[in-house]
Amino acid sequence: MAKADKRESELGDRVEFKKHTSSKRLLLLPFLACSPLALLLLKGAPLEWSVFFGRLHLAMLHLPIGILLLVALMELVTLLSRGRLSYRTDLPVFVAAFTTVASTVCGILLADSEASTGPLITSHLRWGIATAVFTVLALAFRCAPNYQLGKLWPWAYQTALLVACGMLIWTGHQGGSITHGEQFLTERIPWRSTPLAKGAVEIPPPGAPVYYEPTMAALFAAKCNSCHKQAYFKGGLIMDSYEALLRGGDSGACVLPGQSASSTIITSILLPISDDDHMPPKDKSQLTAQEVEAIERWVQGGALRSMLDNASR
Ligand code: HEC
Repeated sequence: MAKADKRESELGDRVEFKKHTSSKRLLLLPFLACSPLALLLLKGAPLEWSVFFGRLHLAMLHLPIGILLLVALMELVTLLSRGRLSYRTDLPVFVAAFTTVASTVCGILLADSEASTGPLITSHLRWGIATAVFTVLALAFRCAPNYQLGKLWPWAYQTALLVACGMLIWTGHQGGSITHGEQFLTERIPWRSTPLAKGAVEIPPPGAPVYYEPTMAALFAAKCNSCHKQAYFKGGLIMDSYEALLRGGDSGACVLPGQSASSTIITSILLPISDDDHMPPKDKSQLTAQEVEAIERWVQGGALRSMLDNASR
């Protein structure tokens, strides 16, 4: 009996020993988690590559969300059960950190390759980078040698993990606002009776003048502003502000008052749908013939802001 006891404690010692020596090797993990940073080199490569990895952002981003929140749950259960139910989290934290860094890097390539700019994009990018930094920090604290023995490491780890989760939720929310629009979640709350904006654009009868306010503003809001609003825009073009729209985009003015045939806002919507420059892009809700005609009528009629604008001339 005494012999078996001795053997068991020896075995225990060996396991303990192994745990602490091998934990030194765990220190490689934070560095490995940063390896996707190498993808940033693609910024100088042919556009095809950054477009491909950029688009991966939209698939990849779901991994850190799921994994990081799962790690937080595992830690919470360990904490609340005072260790009776305890999970080893070094591997999941590593996967969370690796995928967070990878999605952030792909996000940077996406914004770059799609020429997306605007305050919402910048802010989303910054929060994404901050989330990646804190997730890697959490991993580094988790992998600190003698993690189990040190009093500081578990505390630093839990704090970094909590901060990373908070940032992740905020960054995810911003990302959702970019792809689906800021009102995507709130506009259809069942107990709120806001009327649906869709299809509500009323076009003046043939022959009547068309103004930016209210007709064009509503039409652009429905069909163009998801990619051309002040918070977030492509091609340098902002359409939810009259002044900005008349200023134009990356290729200069796109609305030439009175000259609809040479205004790119018109030529781009008249291009065949298979053309890469056709607006709105082919996978988006298209303009009806009546809406195209209304935009032409607006530009041809002088691209006026409102009825008041007309009266002052
Ligand atoms: C799904 C996103 C999306 C939607 C919706 C969209 N656009 Fe665009 N638009 C783009 C992108 C991307 C570019 C930049 C293309 C480029 O630089 O090659 C662009 C560029 C433009 C340009 C050229 C700007 C410049 O100066 O280079 C015009 C004009 C334009 N869009 C008009 C419209 C109109 C009008 C609508 C609505 C009927 C619309 N777009 C809807 C994505 C979109």
